[in-house]
Amino acid sequence: MPPVMRRRAFGASRFVVALGLVGCSSSTSSSPSSSVEPSTFTDVYAMMFPLATKGQCNFCHSLPPNEKSNGNLSMGEDKASAYAALVGKPSASHSCSGGTLVVAGQPDASLFFQKLSASPACGGRMPLGGDPLTPEQLDMIRSWISAGAKDD
Ligand code: HEC
Repeated sequence: MPPVMRRRAFGASRFVVALGLVGCSSSTSSSPSSSVEPSTFTDVYAMMFPLATKGQCNFCHSLPPNEKSNGNLSMGEDKASAYAALVGKPSASHSCSGGTLVVAGQPDASLFFQKLSASPACGGRMPLGGDPLTPEQLDMIRSWISAGAKDD
């Protein structure tokens, strides 16, 4: 018991020191709750949208809005269109109406994040019919939304 507690205390103090260093060397105000830089929307978009990558959201969500093919969520074919379609926008689908696609700062309240989990609160798990995203990919999306869902 005692050695374990000492190790934990040591680990925690190193973490605080690391945060202090980040705070001093950075002029922009990054999230104080983590020493890791949050993901950017550029990272998230490149990882999950283009057809070339495994996520393949664009396979359905770059089509014009249609309830059957994409739940009326049309995100275009570039990063700017996807951002505009997602952040702060209400759901336009039958299954998820009443929800908000991306609530800045709140991944768990964001349909865009919820729909990637194994059993979403509404409709199917995205990408529909495809492989689920990996925990690392989910962490990236969570981190981008938690840090304010910026257009970065
Ligand atoms: C094979 C087609 C297909 C693929 C691929 C796909 N989706 Fe969907 N998506 C749909 C359909 C159909 C709906 C509406 C029915 C539902 O919610 O299950 C939907 C609904 C959604 C919604 C809710 C829309 C709303 O306004 O309520 C989100 C968010 C979403 N998808 C995100 C994604 C993401 C992110 C990806 C990529 C990781 C993805 N989808 C891949 C077909 C697809």
